[in-house]
Amino acid sequence: MTHVNAWAATEAGSALTRFDYDLGPIGADEVDIAVDHCGICHSDLSMIDNAFGMSQYPLVPGHEVVGRIAATGDGVCHLKVGDRVGLGWQSGYCMHCAQCMTGHHNTCPEAASTIIGRHGGFADTVRAQSASVIPLPEGLDAAEAGPLFCGGITVFNPMDLHGLMPTDRAAVIGIGGLGHIAIQFLRAWGCEVTAFTSSDGKAQEARDLGAHNVINSRDPAAIGAAAGQFDLIISTVGASLDWNAYANALSPRGRLHFVGVVAEPIALSLFPLLFGERSVSSSPAGPPAMIARMLDFAARHDVAPVTEHFPMSRVNEALDRLRSGGARYRVVLDRD
Ligand SMILES: NC(=O)c1ccc[n+]([C@@H]2O[C@H](COP(=O)([O-])OP(=O)(O)OC[C@H]3O[C@@H](n4cnc5c(N)ncnc54)[C@H](OP(=O)(O)O)[C@@H]3O)[C@@H](O)[C@H]2O)c1
Ligand SMILES: [Zn+2]
Ligand SMILES: [Zn+2]
Repeated sequence: MTHVNAWAATEAGSALTRFDYDLGPIGADEVDIAVDHCGICHSDLSMIDNAFGMSQYPLVPGHEVVGRIAATGDGVCHLKVGDRVGLGWQSGYCMHCAQCMTGHHNTCPEAASTIIGRHGGFADTVRAQSASVIPLPEGLDAAEAGPLFCGGITVFNPMDLHGLMPTDRAAVIGIGGLGHIAIQFLRAWGCEVTAFTSSDGKAQEARDLGAHNVINSRDPAAIGAAAGQFDLIISTVGASLDWNAYANALSPRGRLHFVGVVAEPIALSLFPLLFGERSVSSSPAGPPAMIARMLDFAARHDVAPVTEHFPMSRVNEALDRLRSGGARYRVVLDRD
């Protein structure tokens, strides 16, 4: 019986308090990870607050886990105790539906979320199905790799899924945890990269991360001046913006792709889409094979999250740091 020391929200919006639980016998295809580091994604805040309406309490957040394999079920042969691994938003799949059988595990209707109906990585141990646990390649710093497992894969997925070309012009809206990794990936991919930010203070930093151009994400005239430019725009913003202005900034056959979770319906006029054969799309995280490919790409191109570290015992301070909007760019919790 594995005893877990974790941090949990007990009701919507509560501060996290210490929470212990027993994991029970390990399943044949499961592994336990000793958590060394865990990034804090904005979705952790939204889940603590029940902003998505799907939270179950006590809720142990944390889905950007990096650690070492501590135990393996009898049927696990590709991971062994001591391996350096990571775990993201999803911690299990049915493994037999059409989505799983074609490599699209992240759209499996039975995919399990690491922090819904099970307990996540703000803890000393987390359990997951072995297929969702990905080894860290050589060359990635374990202390900085956690944010790749949700933030990184979530922005990498639309680049890979939609066949982004190195000759394309691409843009990112919102330079936070996801956005600052997206800039680095797009630059390494070969694209001309534009950062849309609402924070004047981030303009130079966005350039340092690899952006060729920076535009104020809330300035209609500046967005209008970029009409027809982008083959792909990835929005990482969790708030409503002038989406029609962004649709107009797409090139013909360009794509406006939402990964930031906007609570309200997306207000979009049809004509800019229709006349330009433009598309609107969205996606959840990414499948395990793509996560492995993304990690290799990050290691090869020195793509690394820019982080601020807190010990796990200061988790509430760390959450406040993200909530304040001041984090540069991802807050990561370290084992006490
Ligand atoms: N689809 C998925 O699978 C998936 C996975 C992970 C996260 N998410 C979602 O993605 C979103 C971003 O997550 P994150 O962890 O990157 O959050 P974050 O670190 O807080 O970054 C979000 C950024 O959006 C911009 N922003 C925030 N509020 C804004 C406003 N009112 N107007 C304009 N810009 C605003 C800010 O960038 P600037 O300062 O540059 O303007 C901010 O840094 C969240 O909604 C999260 O739930 C989705
Ligand atoms: Zn996340
Ligand atoms: Zn499935």
